Amino acid sequence: MVGIFAGYWQYVLLHNFVNLGDVLSLIIRDLRQQLRDATKAEHHKIDHHLLMENLLRGDLNKKGYITVLNALYCLHFPIENAFLAIRHHGEFPSPMRSGWLAEDLDRMGGVAGGRMWSGRIPETVSGYVGMRYVIEGSAMGGKLILRHLATRLPVECRDATRFFQGDSLDLGWKNLWEMTEQVSVVSSEAIDAAKRLFDEIDVLFTHHAENARMERVKDQF
Ligand code: HEM
Repeated sequence: MVGIFAGYWQYVLLHNFVNLGDVLSLIIRDLRQQLRDATKAEHHKIDHHLLMENLLRGDLNKKGYITVLNALYCLHFPIENAFLAIRHHGEFPSPMRSGWLAEDLDRMGGVAGGRMWSGRIPETVSGYVGMRYVIEGSAMGGKLILRHLATRLPVECRDATRFFQGDSLDLGWKNLWEMTEQVSVVSSEAIDAAKRLFDEIDVLFTHHAENARMERVKDQF
């Protein structure tokens, strides 16, 4: 009798546990899909930004590459520190990709400097998730960018590509979605924060490109 009773509860618990896991992964997939769909236009604007275009097309010289690394540093360094300060309790620290940018810049003899990101600090956990989505997700294009850099970078710059190697995806990206299992996220707030950050990045990149007098590449597609 006791055996049947215990077996029943084991069944109920296991059954509910599996369902809970399924529900969680559905919620996470849904949130990511919503963020992805809602920020498609903003991503397109950023990956077609003059500064980013230089990584993929046209003549990429050492000076131009240093300008791009520096602009990325000026985004990642302050924002990663802002994230560290408000990190959700129990959350794994994500890799500081600004450290890799500093190493890459150093290898090129470049010095980090100029205008840093000073955008809005997330006020809610949902805003934090939206902003982390933009920053962790940005590693995804790395592999594609790396393929271009492998042939287009001047030879002396080719070992300064640590930042684009994408090793943070397993950690940063995974950490983010694991964290969203512990908190409740209002997707509209996360989306607003992600869009706002993409806009701030656009302004920051434009400033750095103009400052370096970067020109649009001729072979537009
Ligand atoms: C030349 C520049 C860039 C290129 C070519 C590029 C390309 C890509 C590609 C191919 C993906 C999809 C990867 C996949 O689904 O397997 C992706 C995802 C993503 N990128 Fe970029 N990217 C660039 C710059 C950026 C920047 C500067 C940011 C933000 C700071 C950014 C944010 C994101 C985000 C958030 C995702 C994840 C989208 C999702 O939910 O799947 N990207 N990028």
